[in-house]
Amino acid sequence: MKVLVIGSGGREHAMAWKLSQSSKVKSIFIAPGNGGTHLNPKFKNIDLTNINLLADFATKETIDLTVIGPELPLSKGIVDLFKSKKLNIFGPTQRAAQLESSKGFAKDFMYRHNIPTAKYKTFKTSDEAHQYINEQGAPIVIKADGLASGKGVIVAMTEKEAHDAINFMLVDNKFGDAGAKVVIEEFLEGEEASFMVICDGKTILPLATSQDHKRLLDRDIGPNTGGMGAYSPAPVVTEEVYSKVINEIIHPTIHGMAKDGIPFTGFLYAGLIIAKNGNVKTLEYNCRMGDPETQPILMRLKSDLFEILYNAALGQLNSIKIEWDSRTALAVVLASAGYPENPKLNDEIYIEDRLIPDSYIFHAGTIFKNNKLLTSGGRVLAVTALGNSIKEAQSKAYEVINTVKFNGAQYRKDIGYKALNNN
Ligand SMILES: Nc1ncnc2c1ncn2[C@@H]1O[C@H](COP(=O)(O)OP(=O)(O)OP(=O)(O)O)[C@@H](O)[C@H]1O
Ligand SMILES: [Mg+2]
Repeated sequence: MKVLVIGSGGREHAMAWKLSQSSKVKSIFIAPGNGGTHLNPKFKNIDLTNINLLADFATKETIDLTVIGPELPLSKGIVDLFKSKKLNIFGPTQRAAQLESSKGFAKDFMYRHNIPTAKYKTFKTSDEAHQYINEQGAPIVIKADGLASGKGVIVAMTEKEAHDAINFMLVDNKFGDAGAKVVIEEFLEGEEASFMVICDGKTILPLATSQDHKRLLDRDIGPNTGGMGAYSPAPVVTEEVYSKVINEIIHPTIHGMAKDGIPFTGFLYAGLIIAKNGNVKTLEYNCRMGDPETQPILMRLKSDLFEILYNAALGQLNSIKIEWDSRTALAVVLASAGYPENPKLNDEIYIEDRLIPDSYIFHAGTIFKNNKLLTSGGRVLAVTALGNSIKEAQSKAYEVINTVKFNGAQYRKDIGYKALNNN
């Protein structure tokens, strides 16, 4: 079988890595891929991102399954396009992907189907938004309705910050169409976790739980990033929390979408916030796997990923069982100097040719140019390792980091600390 993976990050490298372990998979194309996928003889990078050109490529190459990493192609309707050309693809349609591509759509959906989430109101004009902030006070959360590359959410600790965010989005139109509508919601307190499932429209297959670290610096301070590390499982998701999430969030979401005439096929990611009293609310939906959570999750997957996704795409997920390694996997992201504001590119990366068992270095912002591996983005590598405990996985990941070097590399030294505190 031939598989096409769309995307260029650590998540897509991990997907390709796992898919390549299937005896059914004969070739894997990654569009556009990165330096790491280029260097692996099992993969072939394809320099395409336009969805029409990707569909032409998949037709010409008779691709048996296409898997999508990031949200952008989903919001552009890649699944609808591929399906109209009778190409087998796993992911949500453009309408279903609104769960991620429109925060307003997601909030109205949750409200309609009684799915626990923060209290909210949606605004298109600044006067009303400012007035609402004056009434509600701070802290309060302002969210651009559309996709804004992870920059569209402002957790305002003061009313001034909230008013500034409204001016930024609704008056100065800094996010363009993505910020022409905003959701203002209640600030929730608790610990965050990521909960992902695979769904074929009817059957739900939960993936292992995980937690990521969004802030740049140790102890969760500094600016927000795309994610500086993650681990699986997340001890904060106790058995009790797990069944709450399935019953109060995941099932109602999948059933609600089907009831609304927009059946959901794909990866569904519920961003959770778990309060001290054990109550769980949905912070957001993503319609794809998380990055860097995918790296540790797939490291723990024992089952054949191709088998799972191929059957899911055909609507036959009920025939699939999923098996996990009981150990913990932990990923530490190595970012380039200046990340997240102004990542420095084109630094040469040196990786020792030394294999450490139960570990893998997934590439993200890397490129292979003039016979050199160079940094080409903010998040460069995700060093991932398995261990019998969170502590062991953590020590091993940091041991592997010692085999990697590039100028200005920055990484957190405390990935997993919340899980250690929870144990
Ligand atoms: N109601 C809330 N109360 C407190 N914090 C919140 C709330 N909503 C969002 N946040 C914080 O802001 C972060 C980003 O919010 P959200 O997940 O909605 O945005 P996003 O841009 O879609 O994120 P991602 O890039 O992970 O998909 C959350 O991870 C959480 O830390
Ligand atoms: Mg999101």
